[in-house]
Amino acid sequence: MESTAVKTFAREYWKKSAGRYNKAHQSEREHASWKELLKTLLGPAGGLEVLDVGTGTGVIALALAAAGHKVTTLDLTAEMVEKAKANAKRRGLVVDFRIGDAEKLPFADNTFDVVINKWLLWTLPAPEKAISEWRRVLKPGGRLIIVDGNWWDFRKSWAKRAWYHLLAMPLILITERRYAWNSYGHLVQHLPMLSRKRPEADVELLERFGFVGVEAQEVGIPIAQTFIRRLKYGYQGGQFLVKGVKA
Ligand SMILES: C[S@@+](CC[C@H](N)C(=O)[O-])C[C@H]1O[C@@H](n2cnc3c(N)ncnc32)[C@H](O)[C@@H]1O
Repeated sequence: MESTAVKTFAREYWKKSAGRYNKAHQSEREHASWKELLKTLLGPAGGLEVLDVGTGTGVIALALAAAGHKVTTLDLTAEMVEKAKANAKRRGLVVDFRIGDAEKLPFADNTFDVVINKWLLWTLPAPEKAISEWRRVLKPGGRLIIVDGNWWDFRKSWAKRAWYHLLAMPLILITERRYAWNSYGHLVQHLPMLSRKRPEADVELLERFGFVGVEAQEVGIPIAQTFIRRLKYGYQGGQFLVKGVKA
């Protein structure tokens, strides 16, 4: 499958998911937790030029803007960005929202103090291309922060796969009126990060691209999931972040 076909799929998938995704991730508690964590990572002062790639409905972008940073975002899916814009308006926050591809950024070299992305890297067909682009737009001394989880890991166990086919897929069909077998599951072989051991693979990638001080850590923020969502998506793991500095 061509990289452009993966992106066409992604656009359609996130277009259909925008409403339910937004509902699941706009709580005050989630906003406050990310704001707190970002303050710990970036310092309390604000004022940094930050790019949030794959911003979706703006969870990270809005937490950054609320902490006083100058935030630009990029996302492939117009419907997700519409939700993010409405969320920014509701919170009275200013963010520069753009539509575009995380693997081909419309920004000049050495533009940002920080490039961040959450739950994006696993969806990309060419992660190396993305990291190289994120590095390009960072200023020297700028920081890259990747937040992600080991999504779709359950497929490695036959028992969990059976559970997914027998229980989760029918549940998704009933509650979301969509066929989950036409989902990211069938793209697994085109999404390299889903087959790598993470976050170790992320650390190796960042070091290979010349980042220094590369470190991985667990993120203590629980993933907002209702009981039904847990049954449907079966993700029991946590999330991690990997950070590095452009030398
Ligand atoms: C799981 S959501 C994460 C959204 C947000 N970062 C968050 O943490 O809530 C993945 C997002 O990545 C976007 N996306 C997928 N492929 C992309 C690409 N090639 N370039 C930019 N955005 C992409 C999707 O449109 C979607 O909004």
